[in-house]
Amino acid sequence: MKVAIASDHGGVNIRKEIISLMDEMGIHYEDLGCECSTSVDYPDYAIPVAEKVANGEVDRGILICGTGIGMSIAANKVKGVRCALVHDMFSAQATREHNDSNILAMGERVIGPGLAREIARIWLTTEFAGGRHENRVNKIKQYEE
Ligand code: RB5
Repeated sequence: MKVAIASDHGGVNIRKEIISLMDEMGIHYEDLGCECSTSVDYPDYAIPVAEKVANGEVDRGILICGTGIGMSIAANKVKGVRCALVHDMFSAQATREHNDSNILAMGERVIGPGLAREIARIWLTTEFAGGRHENRVNKIKQYEE
């Protein structure tokens, strides 16, 4: 699996935490920044990650900002992206099993690095359940066509 990851200035610490997790897990990743000491605009980071996921350059994406909300709104504008904003472990598993989410968004001003790491670990290792959930995801895909 290859993952594209990015954050704005509000998510740098959790981005680094998740990068260290992916190093430990042996997951290949592309780090798209930011290397920011000043304020940046989250769409400039969300959309490049979302486009890489949508065009198949990477399998999954992870986006972090202050709340995760701006990143998730921007990423979900890209056709083919199912970005889930997650701040608990139950939802991390459920969104992979039920929604086949291909981008995970988290907010560094909402949760700490330990919980973010566990959410990412679960999200990266949980498979889509398919079955009745596939029909539902297909309805989203059909709407996009
Ligand atoms: C930046 O201040 C903040 O607005 C951003 O990180 C994010 O929370 C937006 O949704």
